[in-house]
Amino acid sequence: MLLACPAKLNLHLRVAPLSPPGTQNAGYHHLASWMVLTSLHDDLSLVPRFTPGVTLTCQWHDESAPHSQVPTDDRNLVLVAARALAEHLPDSARDSLPGVALHLTKRIPPGTGLGGGSSDAASTIYALDRFWQLGLPTEVLLDVAAKVGSDVPFFLHCLTTGTHSAWCTGRGELVSPISLPRPRTALLIFPPLHCSTPDVYRHFDQLKLGTDLSSITRPPLGLPAIPLLSQLQNDLQPAAFGLYPRLAEIHAIAQRSLDSAKTLQLIHLTGSGSALFTLFDTPQDAAVAQQKLPKELPSTLVTLGQSRQNPL
Ligand code: C5P
Repeated sequence: MLLACPAKLNLHLRVAPLSPPGTQNAGYHHLASWMVLTSLHDDLSLVPRFTPGVTLTCQWHDESAPHSQVPTDDRNLVLVAARALAEHLPDSARDSLPGVALHLTKRIPPGTGLGGGSSDAASTIYALDRFWQLGLPTEVLLDVAAKVGSDVPFFLHCLTTGTHSAWCTGRGELVSPISLPRPRTALLIFPPLHCSTPDVYRHFDQLKLGTDLSSITRPPLGLPAIPLLSQLQNDLQPAAFGLYPRLAEIHAIAQRSLDSAKTLQLIHLTGSGSALFTLFDTPQDAAVAQQKLPKELPSTLVTLGQSRQNPL
């Protein structure tokens, strides 16, 4: 069994102040985000094992490129997800689960706000439910997903319904499908640093940032790239730039490279960073813009909403 685990972009991300103790989602931040899948993806394969238990191995798709280490121990969200699903079963059922060897082929860099680990975890929940023939209701699987991480329900919802674009609220786990944006090509820029999501949120609190979400509406659907980009906002961006000044510098360099006398091609952060993105109406426009970036700054073009079909 082989599943694609697509990366996401937070096209728009509005974040409320930290929820105080004793309230819903205490210790987290309520948010409202337009999340879309992209064509960049990891692959997860499942192979039966004769001995019980779940094992994980991992390799980079392009092993020649420099990559950060992805842990294959209990910290990996794939194993966290497998454990969360198994813990949901009665002891007797858990003890008789068939053994399975999971293998990840990684393309999505960790610590970039592209949701690679969360997407891998969602695919794990989806695939193990089938492999173990549990047949759990979707709501139960979504509950398990929310325990693993705030973004995991979005990816699982996409897998179970074929959705590619959603308005996510709560701490990210309440998912309502909406249309994809009109521009379908994104240029992803990879500054050579990784952001820690808890650290960025903590800095967000130190800066006393936070948006009143009651007045937040979705950006209008159907706008072309340039006017759409001017309506998109990531409330975590000032916190990420404050915490990682090099990220702010690279953003400014990339922004200057793409600016022209005619148009302001706004570049935004996805999630808590470190990846940056901007949108284009055609792949040709995107390719022209990519050429303008400094050669030493890694980047790639992706299609929005085009994830590889899963053969399940
Ligand atoms: O849910 P997840 O494990 O992805 O969250 C990682 C960290 O990001 C949390 O521990 C929390 O500090 C922060 N977070 C938050 N509010 C959210 C989502 C994440 O404060 N809505």
